[in-house]
Amino acid sequence: MQASIHAVVLPVAGLGTRFLPATKAIPKEMLPVLDKPLIQLAVEEAHKAGIKHVVLVTSASKRAIEDHFDVNFELESTLEQRHKFAMLEAVRSTLPAGMTLSVVRQPKALGLGHAVLCAQPIIGNQPFAVMLPDDLIDDVDGGCLADMVTLYNQQQAFSLAVEDVPRDKTDKYGVVSLDAAGKIVAMVEKPKPDVAPSTLAVVGRYILPGDIFDALTAVKPGAGGEIQLTDGIASLLASHHFRPHRFKGVRYDCGSKLGYLQANVALGLRDAEVGQGFQAWLSDINK
Ligand code: UTP
Repeated sequence: MQASIHAVVLPVAGLGTRFLPATKAIPKEMLPVLDKPLIQLAVEEAHKAGIKHVVLVTSASKRAIEDHFDVNFELESTLEQRHKFAMLEAVRSTLPAGMTLSVVRQPKALGLGHAVLCAQPIIGNQPFAVMLPDDLIDDVDGGCLADMVTLYNQQQAFSLAVEDVPRDKTDKYGVVSLDAAGKIVAMVEKPKPDVAPSTLAVVGRYILPGDIFDALTAVKPGAGGEIQLTDGIASLLASHHFRPHRFKGVRYDCGSKLGYLQANVALGLRDAEVGQGFQAWLSDINK
């Protein structure tokens, strides 16, 4: 049996232009859903999947992400002196126990495929996971990536998380087509609705073979010099077994304003501290 999945790559070097001016000085991945930044929710999902090593692909303007997972000595000693132990624990456990963090820079935003390629010196030739933190998958069991790791362990199948989208939205996603046995046989980036091979869209969770790095190295850059992860995956489909993973729960596209608002409302409504008050207020303003 091949090695299990020990590492996750989190490409967070994008510019986050859809959230400007909020993301001028703050990384998009540090925007909070209630009290946790998107990046922390992603790391917690990876922890639930048994992953031990988090590899951040960052850029010069994303230092706050590294700091979020590091020790903040001044804050921690102040909270300790004030006996704010619950807050102290929340601050100390941003990186769950047993996980390690590596950081690599993507010098220029040359696309998601290029960002993943930047992690090659750290990952080597092992199978690994990729998560896009702005796709928040709200599964009450917290387990989209955990289910994909289990699929890999049981069937040695690489996988891409997918969801069915309306046909007029296919040009916003990578779209896959399947053979009769349910194996992914083709993947195209942002196809126009009339030529899309299906309405099964890939969202931000992947289990990939180490061979993806050679595949990405061979990909010809597209417009703006960008290297698409989709092109790298597409070139592996004939030689590797990829399955779609139809996850449980709801995905929020927190890279868009609407999806980000929806995520805050959904998680806010079931929050132990503010949920009831928020629900009452929402019913009130809807009258
Ligand atoms: P997006 O397409 O959401 O781009 O990237 P973006 O730059 O973050 O946001 P907008 O569209 O300008 O608002 C999807 C994921 O790929 C990463 C992003 O950080 C995000 O997690 N990415 C994208 C990189 O790490 N490097 C890149 O060159 C491009």
